[in-house]
Amino acid sequence: MNPKLQSDQILKLAGLAPVIPVLVVHDPETAEPLARALVDGGLPVLEVTLRTPAALDVISRMARIPGAHVGAGTVLTPDDLHRAQDAGAGFAVSPGATDRLIRAAEDAALPLLPGAVTASEIMRAADHGYRMLKFFPAEAAGGARALKSLASPLPHVSFCPTGGIGAANAPDYLALPNVRCVGGSWIVPDRDLAQGNWDGIRALAQAAAGLARG
Ligand code: 3PG
Repeated sequence: MNPKLQSDQILKLAGLAPVIPVLVVHDPETAEPLARALVDGGLPVLEVTLRTPAALDVISRMARIPGAHVGAGTVLTPDDLHRAQDAGAGFAVSPGATDRLIRAAEDAALPLLPGAVTASEIMRAADHGYRMLKFFPAEAAGGARALKSLASPLPHVSFCPTGGIGAANAPDYLALPNVRCVGGSWIVPDRDLAQGNWDGIRALAQAAAGLARG
């Protein structure tokens, strides 16, 4: 799919909720109750990072949950992208963008949200046709102030910032005109996931789903 269409599809997903939970899941048995808690809480777009051996299994299981839009995160190589697609991922997220990954995404059926931080990285991705990018690691790379500065010379590009974002600073990002949604792991604390505290996770999702966008 060409990068413009990829971004169109990612923008549509970003419109479904202000926050995309970034998930690191070790136990495939938790996939279903976790996805249900998040979707019930109002966060239907889920990013399962390819950082655990269980990740592809988790994607397959979550993709079967009604109302869930499940993507793969931490997609670094064409092989990651293909494995994510085969597992049933509906989209892919990368912390960066390489020529190899962009070429693979053009041949793939699922849209990619590539990462970019500097003006040159953003311009390069935009040259390919991408209009929606991940801004990672958001806080370490200058946070909402940096994104605000980038909006002025690069108003045609929108972002999903992630990295260091939580309930306290998410509103600063969501108020910006070039931010469509934010991503983060705060909605699923390790402890709640380990203890199967689905009510607690649903409550955090509800709070995140209620965040206003600018
Ligand atoms: C990501 O991959 O987007 C980040 O690991 C999420 O960052 P966070 O854990 O600081 O929310």
